[in-house]
Amino acid sequence: MGEENSDYTKNFVDLRRHMWIEGVEVELRRLIWQIAVVGKYISAKIHESNRKLAGFKNVYGDEQLALDRISDDILKSQLKFSGFVREYASEELEDIIKIGTGKEKYIVTADPLDGSSLVDTNLAIGTIIGIHKESILDSGRRTMVAALYITYGPLITMIYSAGQGAHEFVLDREGEYVLSQENIRLKEKGSIFSPGGLRRDWIPEHLKFVEQLEKDGYKLRYSGGFVPDINQILIKKGGIFTYPALKKSPQGKLRLLFELQPMAFIMEQAGGLATDGNQDILSLKVENVNQLSPIYIGSVTEVQMAKKILSA
Ligand code: F6P
Repeated sequence: MGEENSDYTKNFVDLRRHMWIEGVEVELRRLIWQIAVVGKYISAKIHESNRKLAGFKNVYGDEQLALDRISDDILKSQLKFSGFVREYASEELEDIIKIGTGKEKYIVTADPLDGSSLVDTNLAIGTIIGIHKESILDSGRRTMVAALYITYGPLITMIYSAGQGAHEFVLDREGEYVLSQENIRLKEKGSIFSPGGLRRDWIPEHLKFVEQLEKDGYKLRYSGGFVPDINQILIKKGGIFTYPALKKSPQGKLRLLFELQPMAFIMEQAGGLATDGNQDILSLKVENVNQLSPIYIGSVTEVQMAKKILSA
């Protein structure tokens, strides 16, 4: 049965139906669907690892690293045979690799398991995906056509955008991604902040910005996982996440291609902004896959305030 015709008796909107209603082009929606399915496999691996943590076997760093690699392998092999992906770049690989026949439409970037060091703490972690049509390196143009992330927490949720808003789905007990929030819209101003990096390493301008947020009564919300921290801002409809330039690391810590640009795409689609303090994250030229960048991402008021203080 074709995906368009599948089960019209449902009284909820699942991911495939939503993308179809939204008019997402057929290959793109099939690709997004396949990636969402990979999320289920990755989540099964996380559970396996956590079962061991729950007393069956001790799990140390090595195994957490293995979880990163397993997630990457699952994703890569799924995309290789998807029929839609010609190039794949991942945090786990040195460089962009060619997969498929070379004639496929899309290039996919992945952080297969972001925040994997949090697995043993049972905090939320996630998968971040960017989907591009054109070559991603050196273009200096916006090449992303869609982005999504999956949060593995008490619930498994997925937010995707194919350029027509950002939409949240929850994986239900039957293994269906069910629409939970359509067109997430941030308020102009939020009330939480997630500041990465050590205070003693911040540059003076950034310190001034954070002090202003504190003075204005913003609540501190920082888990150490990029996916849940961004997710919190989206779901609470406002606030700001920063990982700034540090005194000894002017480009900060987070990766432009794998982490920052996909989240910037989604945040913009939800009415927010993402900048490095000066330029939009999505307009930054990606010269190599491991490029880092500072980031200020969230609702408009806070991001603009950051820009103002940083440029003073
Ligand atoms: O890039 C990995 C990562 O764990 C992100 O998920 C998170 O936002 C950041 O690093 C946390 O960094 P730190 O441990 O310096 O707060």
